[in-house]
Amino acid sequence: MYMVIKKMVKYIQMSFCSGGYMSQSNEVMFSPELVSFIEEWKTKPGNLIMVLHKVQEEFHYISREAADKVAEMLDVPLASIWGVVSFYHFFKLTKPGKHNIQVCMGTACYLKGGQGVLEELGSQLKIPAGAVTEDGIFSLEGVRCLGCCGLAPVMSIGGEVYGKVTKTQIPKILAALRQA
Ligand code: FES
Repeated sequence: MYMVIKKMVKYIQMSFCSGGYMSQSNEVMFSPELVSFIEEWKTKPGNLIMVLHKVQEEFHYISREAADKVAEMLDVPLASIWGVVSFYHFFKLTKPGKHNIQVCMGTACYLKGGQGVLEELGSQLKIPAGAVTEDGIFSLEGVRCLGCCGLAPVMSIGGEVYGKVTKTQIPKILAALRQA
């Protein structure tokens, strides 16, 4: 709950308290594919979630500028967008690192040491879950079941699944990613 409130405060600060609302200089560029997707969904029911999914697919998070642009294109209040992104855990409000490390916290992984893997990663990267390293290379998060429980404990980095992860493997995995 604390994290959710922290995220809300941060987002509201970003949205309304710095740089000015609808700042043209910060305007984000949507790809032609994204623009035509929004045009296609503009009048359909449930369009806001679909559009925000697509925006996150393109940028990996929902920035203030992207939210502004969606509000303008769909002609909906910014508050409606904020309502959706804050309700669904899936949406991210901060830019993830170059390598976003997702550690499964589902039951099977938890029982097989997923929490320890997450803590070890946090200790080596010097960030808590939900944060990004200062150099922007890594971000770390605990996620729900990744669907390959037989490989527990599991983590996923950039779509690649790492199964039966042990704490001792972590330095080598991080070093390889740093060089990638
Ligand atoms: S519980 Fe971790 S992959 Fe299912």
